[in-house]
Amino acid sequence: MHTLTRTAPALAPTAIPFDLENESAYRQWRELKLRSYPARIEELVVEVGDPRALTGAEHEAILRRCRKANMAIYAGKVREADKDIPRLLGRQFGLQRLDSNWLADDDGITQLTVSGIGERQDYIPYTDRPIKWHTDGYYNPPARRIRAMLLHCVSSAASGGQSALMDHEIAYLLLRDANPEFVRALMAPDAMTIPARANESSVARPAETGPVFHVDPSTAELHMRYTARTRSIRWTQDPLTLAATAFLESLLSADSTYIFRATLEPGMGIICNNVLHDRSGFTDNEAHRRLLYRARYYDRIEDGAAVRMEPAVSQPSL
Ligand SMILES: [Fe+2]
Repeated sequence: MHTLTRTAPALAPTAIPFDLENESAYRQWRELKLRSYPARIEELVVEVGDPRALTGAEHEAILRRCRKANMAIYAGKVREADKDIPRLLGRQFGLQRLDSNWLADDDGITQLTVSGIGERQDYIPYTDRPIKWHTDGYYNPPARRIRAMLLHCVSSAASGGQSALMDHEIAYLLLRDANPEFVRALMAPDAMTIPARANESSVARPAETGPVFHVDPSTAELHMRYTARTRSIRWTQDPLTLAATAFLESLLSADSTYIFRATLEPGMGIICNNVLHDRSGFTDNEAHRRLLYRARYYDRIEDGAAVRMEPAVSQPSL
C-alpha cells in the first residue's frame, strides 16, 4: 500500500486524496493523517540553537512536524532583532519567494508591532486587538497565493498575544467527514469574495473571488483561503455554502484537540504551510512591546524526502 505525501507533476488524478470523487484515496490519506497526530502543542515544539543555521537534526525535527501537521514551533536561543532570522530560516526549507504586501517593509518581511501612526494603525495586525481565524493572504489573487508563512518573535507583550493554530488539512478532513457536500461548496470557484478596497481616490485592491479550498493540479497540495471576519466579505448565498461556513466556524470556536495555542516568547517562532490561525488581544507596556517578524511565501515548505510515493509503513511518528 502506498500513500501520497507530495508528488511530481505527473501525478495520476486517481491518487489525489482531496478529490471528492476518490473516496479510497481520501480514506487512505485520512488514516495516515490521523495516525500519531500531535495531541499537545509541546509535540510541535523544537528546541534549536540558531535558527539562521540549523543543525541537520534540528532541520529534520522541524520538517517532520511540518510534514505531519503543516506546522512547527521552534524555540531558538537568538534574542537579536535580526530580520535574517526569518529570512535564513525560511531559506533552509525552500522558502524564497516572499510576498511583499503594501505595508511590508521593502524587504518583504513585515514588522508586526503596535503602530500609532500612518495607515498601519487602521489595520488590525498593527494594533493590540484580537485577530479572528484566517489564513494569510486570503485577499490575494491566485498568482500571489500564500503557501507558507513564518512568524518570529523578537519581543513579547506584557500579557496576551496568544496564537491559536489549526492545520488546514484537518479542517478539510473534519468538514468532509461531517458532509462531503460542505467541501464541494467550499471548493466552488465563487465561494468567497473579498470586496475591493478603495482609497479616497482610487481602488487599492480589486475584488477577489475564489474558492476556500483549492488543490494545486500540478502538486496535489491543498491550499486554504479563509477569514472568519464578517465585514468586508461576501459568501455565496446558497444554503450549503452557508451551512459549511457555519460548521467551520463552530469547529474553530469549539474546544478541540486539533487547535493548538501558543504564546511566542522572544526567540520563538512558527513555520507553517499557511495553516489557520488567530491571535488574542494583548497589552504592551514600557518594558514589553510586542514585535514579531512575519514572512509570507509563494513557496510551500520543501519536503525533499517526501517527493515520492512513500510506503505507508514508513510514515514517521512525531
Ligand atoms: Fe495571519
